[in-house]
This record gives sequence, structure tokens and C-alpha cells, in this order.
Amino acid sequence: MSTKRKLKILISTEKLQARIRELADEINKAYKNRSLVVVGVLKGSFIFMADLTRLIQCPLTCDFLRVASYGNRTYSSGSVRIEFDLTQPIKGRNVLLVEDIIDTGLTAKCVIENLLTKKPCSLKICALLKKRGREKVKIKIDYLGFTIPNKFVVGYGLDFRGRYRNLPYIAVV
Ligand code: IMP
Ligand code: MG
Repeated sequence: MSTKRKLKILISTEKLQARIRELADEINKAYKNRSLVVVGVLKGSFIFMADLTRLIQCPLTCDFLRVASYGNRTYSSGSVRIEFDLTQPIKGRNVLLVEDIIDTGLTAKCVIENLLTKKPCSLKICALLKKRGREKVKIKIDYLGFTIPNKFVVGYGLDFRGRYRNLPYIAVV
């Protein structure tokens, strides 16, 4: 059963694609031709990562991890566990972590701490969205798509109760 919800477009497909092209340019410049492991946090990052990686010219491999948060599901409790881990070692590799959205930053912090225990040569963070004024922990985002107001957004990988990930734009529910 699904109720129809009103959606308001916040970031259009054109704006998303233009900004992703800029991010990829920055990444191409920064890494030159060094090889990369691009790590996506499932499920929210899969569409962003697909578009971004197709514009990255360095040799790269892709891997994914998935986290499950404990406690309340509408906000981050800060306690997350790795539900699905990387399939390849990243020791000595240049890792680019791809996140859909940084809200409080608690999820990203746990993921970063976990990745660092695996001793990559470098670890940089790329996030499509960051919510303004929400951070509970400081996360250094190396490549950021857009800063958005504190509204619940869906589309382009982001969901509300599992739905709307397939929208080709970012919308406020
Ligand atoms: P954080 O730990 O508070 O930074 O939350 C990050 C995670 O919460 C993201 O990876 C998303 O899965 C989810 N999230 C936070 N805000 C939104 C939103 O506006 N729409 C959809 N998911 C969100
Ligand atoms: Mg996520």
C-alpha cells in the first residue's frame, strides 16, 4: 500500500549532472592517473556513484559497504554497524568514499573510522549532499555536491521508506 505524497523539486536533473561533472573534473585533477578504489555506501549512493564514476578517468575499481543504524530510524543514533563489508582489501590503496548525504555526520564518521582501520594509503570523502547546520561531528568532505536546507529529501538514490530512489532529481517530500 502506498500513499501519494507531494514532491517539490529541489535540485533538477540538469543541475545534478552539471555539478557531478565539476566534481569529477576536480577528482580527475587531484588523482591524476593514480588508481582508485571507489567505495559506495549502500543503498543511497548507488545512482550518484554510477554517474560520478563514469566521468572519472583514473583507473578504478568499485566496492560497496552497507551500514545498519541501531535505534530510531528517522534520525541517526550514531551507533552503526557494518552490515555488509568490502569485498577487497584496501590496504595501501587510494580510497574515495562516496556518500549520498551527510546529515549529522555520525554515519560517515563510523564508516571513516572503519575504513581507516584497513590502512588505506589515502581516504577522501565525496558526498552529493550535506544538510546545513545539522552536523554533530565534524566531517571533512573533500568533494561536496550541494549544501541543502534541513528538509527531508528523496530521489537520485535517496529514499523515504524505500521509495523514490529512482527519481532523476532531488525532491523534498
Ligand atoms: P547521518 O548519520 O545523520 O549523517 O545520516 C546519514 C544517513 O541518513 C544518510 O546516509 C541517509 O541514509 C539518511 N538520511 C539523512 N537525511 C536524509 C534525507 O533527507 N533523505 C533520505 N535519507 C536521509
Ligand atoms: Mg546513506
